[in-house]
Amino acid sequence: MPEKIAIELGEIQKTMLLPLWGRAQETAKTHPALVDRAAQELVARLDFDFPGLTAGISPLTQAAWVMRAVRVDQVIHDFLQESPRAVILNLGCGLDTTFERVDNGQLTWFDLDLPDVIALRRQLIPENPRRQLIASSFLDPLWLQGIKAPGRLLVVAAGVFYYAERRDVRHFLVRLAGRFACQVLFDVCSPLGMRVANRRVLHNRRLGTGAQLKWGLRDPRDLLKWDPRFRLLHTYSYFGANASHLPLNLRLAGLISDALQIQYMLHLGL
Ligand SMILES: C[S@@+](CC[C@H](N)C(=O)[O-])C[C@H]1O[C@@H](n2cnc3c(N)ncnc32)[C@H](O)[C@@H]1O
Repeated sequence: MPEKIAIELGEIQKTMLLPLWGRAQETAKTHPALVDRAAQELVARLDFDFPGLTAGISPLTQAAWVMRAVRVDQVIHDFLQESPRAVILNLGCGLDTTFERVDNGQLTWFDLDLPDVIALRRQLIPENPRRQLIASSFLDPLWLQGIKAPGRLLVVAAGVFYYAERRDVRHFLVRLAGRFACQVLFDVCSPLGMRVANRRVLHNRRLGTGAQLKWGLRDPRDLLKWDPRFRLLHTYSYFGANASHLPLNLRLAGLISDALQIQYMLHLGL
């Protein structure tokens, strides 16, 4: 049994442990919506008080992390059907193991996160020529210069843009559009969703105020005003049809959450 790895992470970075734990918990269920054995293995490798971090997390929040991962897998799967040799850029990757779930043996994958996350990731998940790590803020303009995408490019940012200011997300997306014609999949929350999430952060003794969300979006069409190249390919509700396996109470709560657009996913063409 390899030695457990201790964690020293910044406040925003620590948020990655929540969806990781959610995917591991889901995998252990009798009828999981998502099977992510790599997430289970990672949780087991870390020397960290997961029960302390996740105490008080509602079953709906936990289900939402899983629903997001299911949607990400679906969109990547469809993208790869059309372009098997595509490049996938996973921003704010945390300890996400989407690669393990969707790899078709041909794609090229970049996992980007802040330096302390990438240092930890490097100890746990090996790089290879088709799977590379980038230690940088996605807001730093430099790393983008180093990316080569000879095939089609899909950029995924799951649970990431919330932590940046609106103007910074805007600058990043405009810069990305200037470099590549690509697609971007990410989640956002409504201003109401942001208030709910930030109350949760305040009540979690393991998360600092640095983990507060900064950006919420009421109307996805507002993004189209940011740049004439932006096209809204799809808006996905979090729960919707993917929630059919959930217990009835969670399905109903998910429906309400969807109706209020507490969280949703956007698929943009740039
Ligand atoms: C809630 S976690 C999501 C992690 C992963 N995408 C997942 O779904 O498991 C947010 C992640 O975004 C990363 N992050 C936040 N701001 C970032 C930035 N400016 N640049 C790069 N990564 C960032 C954090 O370090 C963290 O790993």
